[in-house]
Order: sequence, then C-alpha cells, then structure tokens
Amino acid sequence: MDIIEAVAEMRNALQDKQVAFVPTMGFLHEGHASLIRMAANTGYSTVVSIFVNPTQFNDSQDLENYPRNLDRDKQIAQKAGCDLLFVPSVEEMYAPGDSTRVNVSGVSEGFEGSHRPGHFDGVATVVAKLFLMVQPTIAFFGEKDWQQCCVVSRMVEDLCMPVELRYGPTLREQDGLAMSSRNVRLTPQDRQKAPVLYEELENAATLLRLHHAISAVEKRSSSKLKASGFDVDYFSVINADTMQPAKKLEGNLRIVAAASLGDVRLIDNVSV
Ligand code: PAJ
Repeated sequence: MDIIEAVAEMRNALQDKQVAFVPTMGFLHEGHASLIRMAANTGYSTVVSIFVNPTQFNDSQDLENYPRNLDRDKQIAQKAGCDLLFVPSVEEMYAPGDSTRVNVSGVSEGFEGSHRPGHFDGVATVVAKLFLMVQPTIAFFGEKDWQQCCVVSRMVEDLCMPVELRYGPTLREQDGLAMSSRNVRLTPQDRQKAPVLYEELENAATLLRLHHAISAVEKRSSSKLKASGFDVDYFSVINADTMQPAKKLEGNLRIVAAASLGDVRLIDNVSV
C-alpha cells in the first residue's frame, strides 16, 4: 500500500487507473473497513483518504477531540484492501486564500444541517475537492450518515460529477450501537447506555409498521431516550430521499436520530 500526502504525487500514481474511493476522517473501524472491502471488490485501484476536515466541524472542541491514530489506520486500511492511502495536510487541502465553498440546499437544511450550522458546506466542499483530486470512477459512503449520503448524491447530480456513488449498510457493535470513531470518547457508563438509541429506532420502526401515528411514535421514543439520560437533538420520521419530515405512513421512510450522552453526540438511522 502506498501512502501519499501530496495531490500531485497521488495524481501521478493514479494516472490511467480506474479508482474506487472511500473518503474518511480516520480512526478507522469495521464500518470503514467494510466500505474499503466493497471498493477493493470492484477490482479497481482502491484509494482511501484520511483527512479530519476542519471546515465541517462547527465546534472547535469537537475538532480538537476528534480521535486520531494513523499507524493503526494504515494497518486496517491495508488489511481491508486499500492500494493507496491519501493523507493530505490541512495546507494541502486548503491553500492560503482558500475561499470557495459548495453549498447544497434542501436536503442539507434540517437535522444535522440545523444542529451543526455549516457542517454540510464543509462536507460537500471537501468531498468535491477529494473527487477532483482522486477522480474516482466509484465512491463509497456509509448509510450510517444518511443525510450525508443525500447531500453528496444531490451534489454529484447537480454538478454532473462523473462518479458513481455506492452505499454500504451501517455496521454495529454486538449490542447494536452503530460503530463510530467517536464511540471511544464515551465513558464506560455512557457506553452501556448507548445501545438504547438503536433499540429505540428499531422499536419506533416496529410501531410504525403497526400503523401507530408518526408524531406519537416520535414523542414516545424521544421521552424514552431522555429517561435513559440522552440529550435528544431530534428523533424524526422522514422521507428517505428528500429528508423532509414524513406526514403520512407511505413511501420510502427512514427514522433519523441524534442524541448526546455527556459531550459525545451519537447519530443513527433505520429504515421503516
Ligand atoms: P467518517 O465519519 O470517517 O466516515 C467515513 C465513511 O464511513 C462515511 O461514508 C461514513 O458514513 C462511513 N461510516 C461511518 N460509520 C460507519 C458504520 N458504522 N458502518 C458503515 N459505514 C460507516 O463521514 C465522514 O467521515 C466525513 O464526513 C467525510 C465523508 C470523509 C468527509 O470529510
């Protein structure tokens, strides 16, 4: 596996190659590894980027506390089938005077967009830049970040980016907690409570399948999470494609949720 920090060097290494690409912020876990394996299975050159993107953090503490371990990441990426690990510096990604941002309206506006102002401008901008640098044929994203998938998909369509997007299912710990780089920051007590988020998402999905009213289900689950010690940002039934709150039990529905335990914010979602 090659490890490259400079864009020019990477372009050189990838000349005339078809690329399957997995963008990440590192501190890799089995969820990332599953996307890297999907990419490697295409038979294309598999490129993984590790870049903790400052422009998508609306909270400087969160950026500072974001876990990092490049040595471990190298091993995980290589084992999962990565051919080229792209690890740019902040200066390599954002040149002095940098002043261009990609803003996707609509799908980016509610939920994570309203609780983390500017977050999706940062995501769309860095993903657009990475796509221009790596020029992948196919790029892989995880359903764990459902709204991010919607934002990237909208951007690719609107800007006619020549890349095919593929999505991987959310990988979970044995107790149901969605794998996330941030999980290591949970205290042992909060780590024990954390699976309740997924349990409530599944309970809510079951109740909706039994035709319980959307607003009653949302309220019930939010209360249950609060009673378990979560600080709930949202627990909402949405149209899976538009990210608009669902009014009726019809179409392709998804339940999205974000809730904090202490200073660790967890997000998750399930299909109905
Ligand atoms: P990061 O949180 O490192 O996630 C990188 C990719 O892994 C994303 O597509 C994410 O949805 C996926 N992923 C995370 N947890 C997962 C899980 N438990 N199961 C399956 N896939 C999972 O998402 C980002 O980084 C950044 O916003 C990025 C797209 C790299 C732009 O900076």
